[in-house]
Amino acid sequence: MKKTFYLTTPIFYPNAKLHLGHAYTMTIADAVVRAHRLAGEKTYFLAGSDENTQKMVDAAVQAGTDPITFLDGIVQNFISLYSSLNISNDQFIRTTDQKIHWPGAQALWKLIDASGDLYKKQYEGLYCVGHEAFMTEKDLVDGKCPDHGTEPELLKEENYFFRLSKYAEELKKLIESDTLRIVPDSRKGEILSFINQGLEDVSFSRPRHRGWPEGLGVPVPGDDSQVMYVWCDALANYITALGYGRDDALYREFWPADVHVIGKDILRFHAAIWPAMLLSAGLPLPKTIFVHGFITSGGKKMSKSLGNVIDPEELIEQYGVDAVRYFLLRHISPFEDGDLTREGFKEAYTAHLTNGLGNFVARIMQLAETHLQAPVELAPEDTAIEPAFTEKVEKFRFNEAMDLIFEHVGKGDAYMTEKEPYKKIKEASTTQEAVAVIEKLVRHLAKIAAHLAPAMPATSAAILDAVRKNKKPENLFPRL
Ligand code: MSP
Repeated sequence: MKKTFYLTTPIFYPNAKLHLGHAYTMTIADAVVRAHRLAGEKTYFLAGSDENTQKMVDAAVQAGTDPITFLDGIVQNFISLYSSLNISNDQFIRTTDQKIHWPGAQALWKLIDASGDLYKKQYEGLYCVGHEAFMTEKDLVDGKCPDHGTEPELLKEENYFFRLSKYAEELKKLIESDTLRIVPDSRKGEILSFINQGLEDVSFSRPRHRGWPEGLGVPVPGDDSQVMYVWCDALANYITALGYGRDDALYREFWPADVHVIGKDILRFHAAIWPAMLLSAGLPLPKTIFVHGFITSGGKKMSKSLGNVIDPEELIEQYGVDAVRYFLLRHISPFEDGDLTREGFKEAYTAHLTNGLGNFVARIMQLAETHLQAPVELAPEDTAIEPAFTEKVEKFRFNEAMDLIFEHVGKGDAYMTEKEPYKKIKEASTTQEAVAVIEKLVRHLAKIAAHLAPAMPATSAAILDAVRKNKKPENLFPRL
């Protein structure tokens, strides 16, 4: 039986267009899934949107539209960005989807309830709509949420609470032993120290919101006056998308998830609350949570209010999709925050893609087209993936995996300079030798193309096509 591989991405809030930070998460996720798919595994790749939120309702009101129309518009925008970015997701789940998402979210709730892990209590707390979470006084700076710059609302209401505290010890053991693997180690340390400070029970429902339209908010089973707290409903998407609670063939095939890809801001939800929910329900835990850093621009977190947001569509339009994927995977550290400016992007593009890879492909295929009688016949080993590359991808070290590929470009260049096939082809006595060198270079190019497939699928396909047809391709990375 084929090995299966299930990878999920955060379902983003549809309160505004996605920016390059979100595009980063999706590109990493896509490259990982493609690598597994190319290795012959049966993959399932999930994306979606987190819709039952106050944030979205507020944004709709501000835009002067009703929330449902607003949602549909933004979701179209997500889907079209994923298509421009060449994201190969198998499904796009929406948490307002009453057929796909709600039955499973409610089934999970019932299991947690049956374990005695839900209780009702009167609660008063400071709610930050930006985070869609309660905050404590000590989280605030000058009475404001430091991440959103807004004052949280004081809410007094009756909620269901989830006994997160009960699972602290078990979670700790699972994370320490890497049964639930958190990558990188620095994030594993961060979540362990968070758990060590003691976990408090969390609010898991809200009274049905006034001002929310019909169809927003998953009703709490057996209590119509309450809807599920957005994170409780959102996290469930990872199993409801597979049909959990309705037609669970995919669930049986793919759960537990091999990898949840997330940004560092949502670590606690994924590495504490979500596994505790699954433990309570008696369901298997995901195997790995990969946590990436943030994209900054000019050293500051990319954010709308700072006005340093870069629209991924704009970069794609200007440089092409693979240039964007290339930059995100090679020039941003997967574990730390990484900076992206328009100048830095252009520099990398020109140095490594126009003058580097693009030029390399053009020179080899020009020689091949002119001097080879027929296309080089590729053997399977010509496009076999090097174990060192696979290992880097397995460890989520995408920048180093890309470095390996570009080292091969450098080596090929050096080989060409040393052997001078363009000169030798002109001398009758060395023509034979030059042809052999060109053939070797073409095979080398095919190997590079095969390794590029997860990160830069269109470029990889264009190079392999050129090799198969023995024809110089269109200019892959035009000088800009
Ligand atoms: N809806 C929740 C996720 C629920 S998952 C069950 C949410 N949505 S979000 O729209 O705020 O997206 C947060 C995620 O967007 C981060 O975890 C990260 O993946 C991505 N990013 C947002 N800004 C980012 C950067 N500046 N840099 C990198 N990624 C960033 O949280």
